[in-house]
Amino acid sequence: MSAYTLKIRRFDPETGDTARWQDFDVDLAPERSVLDGILQAKDREDASIWIRCSCRAAICGSCSVKINGKTGLACNTRISDAAADAKNGSIVVEPMGNMPVIKDLIVDMDAVHWKKVQRVIPWLLPEGDPPEREYIVPAESMIDITQSMACIQCGACVGACLSLEVDPDFIGPAALAKAYRFVGDPRDGATEDRLVDLAEDPHGLYDCTHCFACVEVCPKDVAPMNQIMRMRRQATSDYEIKDNNNGYGHEKAFVGLIEKYGTLHEAQLLPRSFGDGSLVKGQTDPKAVKQLVEALPTAIRGVKSGKVSPLKALIHHKLPDQKQVRRIFHEIESKDERLELNMYIVGEVGGSNPDLDETAPAMGETGDEG
Ligand code: SF4
Ligand code: SF4
Ligand code: FES
Repeated sequence: MSAYTLKIRRFDPETGDTARWQDFDVDLAPERSVLDGILQAKDREDASIWIRCSCRAAICGSCSVKINGKTGLACNTRISDAAADAKNGSIVVEPMGNMPVIKDLIVDMDAVHWKKVQRVIPWLLPEGDPPEREYIVPAESMIDITQSMACIQCGACVGACLSLEVDPDFIGPAALAKAYRFVGDPRDGATEDRLVDLAEDPHGLYDCTHCFACVEVCPKDVAPMNQIMRMRRQATSDYEIKDNNNGYGHEKAFVGLIEKYGTLHEAQLLPRSFGDGSLVKGQTDPKAVKQLVEALPTAIRGVKSGKVSPLKALIHHKLPDQKQVRRIFHEIESKDERLELNMYIVGEVGGSNPDLDETAPAMGETGDEG
């Protein structure tokens, strides 16, 4: 047995008091979990601590909290690991971010997480009459969406998402991963409609800033960001959806600039994202002019603080050996099809679903970002 101190954030809206911190000393073997520690404190010291939990085995998805600032399942976090990460000796436990706190460590999942899941129509919309017997689906297709299906709806990614902090209306990582579960399902007949809907929504596909927070915290390796990027590739490359958010133009401009310079020419990215992708026409597009004007205060602040050099922004240097970048572009573009394989198919990760590695077809050539 070892002694640990939990610093738990307490909040009870009925008292009218502001949130406060309370320390609890617990006695547990090092391999036990932070949830075990919270439950011990509840049993021995204060029965009024509120925490949502059920399975205690990383299956039900109900015990997500923030531990030392990082969102995760309390039952899946060793108390000794949390103690090693703790600053000032106490393991800090608080409710997840981006969701209203109901009491102590319990957040309102209905108000945010489940509302967003409902937003993406989380059920199959098959086309035509149902078959006489079952739908026959190629095994590869089902393995492809297994990564999204592994989600246990714990909300950890929602609590950690940086875009949601800035834009609470962002559909968010869990709901978008759920959307890919149906977009990638060959039985679904509404793939294009779903992609148009999510691309046109100003809080949809293009609201993700690619920050990786959801990938890092997900206990089931769902990698929501990767599912979002897959839908973006489908929207832009397969369906050529030219959305009002200009996500299509932005992706094309980004790729074009990398091909041309080998590094991102930031000063050209915004203007080239509009119009036909050319610098002159793009800059005269009214949408581009509006966004350029809106971006001016940020640019001025960058120059004043020394973070942006006008000379470097305008005169962008190509990589000395651009040939290697072009070779990669040529290699990718010469392929007949784009393989969207997830980590189960490639077999790089056996962690969450080891059985799938054994059944995986021998077709893995690229990783998730292929
Ligand atoms: S990668 Fe995108 S969805 Fe994931 S946490 Fe960051 S902003 Fe949110
Ligand atoms: S994607 Fe991962 S972190 Fe997000 S709700 Fe599902 S299991 Fe939890
Ligand atoms: S208690 Fe079920 S996931 Fe933690």
